[in-house]
Amino acid sequence: MNQLVARAVLRRMIGGGRSCNRYLSTPPSAVAVVVTPLDEAVVLWRSQCWGFNGGGAQWRRNMSTDAETTTAVAEKDRKESAVAEEKKGDGEVMVSSYWGISRPKITREDGTEWPWNCFMPWETYRANLSIDLGKHHVPKTFLDKVAFRTVKILRIPTDIFFQRRYGCRAMMLETVAAVPGMVGGMLLHLRSLRKFEQSGGWIKALLEEAENERMHLMTMVELVKPKWYERLLVLTVQGVFFNAFFVLYMLSPKLAHRIVGYLEEEAIHSYTEYLKDIDDGKIENVPAPVIAIDYWRLPKDATLKDVITVIRADEAHHRDVNHFASDIHYEGKKLREAPAPLGYH
Ligand SMILES: [Fe+2]
Ligand SMILES: [Fe+2]
Repeated sequence: MNQLVARAVLRRMIGGGRSCNRYLSTPPSAVAVVVTPLDEAVVLWRSQCWGFNGGGAQWRRNMSTDAETTTAVAEKDRKESAVAEEKKGDGEVMVSSYWGISRPKITREDGTEWPWNCFMPWETYRANLSIDLGKHHVPKTFLDKVAFRTVKILRIPTDIFFQRRYGCRAMMLETVAAVPGMVGGMLLHLRSLRKFEQSGGWIKALLEEAENERMHLMTMVELVKPKWYERLLVLTVQGVFFNAFFVLYMLSPKLAHRIVGYLEEEAIHSYTEYLKDIDDGKIENVPAPVIAIDYWRLPKDATLKDVITVIRADEAHHRDVNHFASDIHYEGKKLREAPAPLGYH
């Protein structure tokens, strides 16, 4: 008896579900669901489908009347989108603004159109070139010495592989340099969720660092085109380094940040050598890529030397951020207890 009742209830549940699914997938209802604000559509769907009895018929009635009114709205939206596409009319296809997402026209200071979607004018900055490039954290503790030695050992294969090809070297190293900030930011983000606590701005600060490093890479690829075997090397190194750094950060953020601090010291050294080769005429001082001119607010006639100079200043900032983060851990505190270096490039 109980089984019979259970089967009847189950049949009605399945029947109701199918009814709603079918109506959601047929054209008139689909239009209605899309045009109705999402919350209303969900409430409507739940109220009609959840009751299991008579819901299907009521749902159909509501949807058929709603469909008539909302189809007109959808038609109007389609026409507006078409007008927008026509207005563009310069060969570029403008994405439909149906979802309400559109970018207002943004211009540079000289009135020309802002060409980038990957960063906006308010995210650009002038690098602080007065930063002390010679600062060094003297390794004193055992962990500091491990970090220092690890970075020095990692430099050996890099020196052998690239020698003085600083363009390739910088491009390849930037693919690695953008990983720690993302891993650290991600793990702090997860910690914030797990522990129901603020990160003190450090999630954003580390993600900003990752983004800044990625912009270094986006600039370098404008200057150096990676070869197929270099792309293969990036794949391998990223696979290994991401996982290794992830595990390291979970085990000892203190050591992880210290290693990054020393990596940044090496980056400053590499870019200084790069600049020497430009000054000596071994590397041509070509015009700066447009993306670099916009990102660092460089003058229009900026050159490669200017770009490398601002990137090196960024690396010095990353060095400070990561040694600072490690020092906070050394003092037995959490990162959120110290000021997060937001916007510190
Ligand atoms: Fe970098
Ligand atoms: Fe860096």
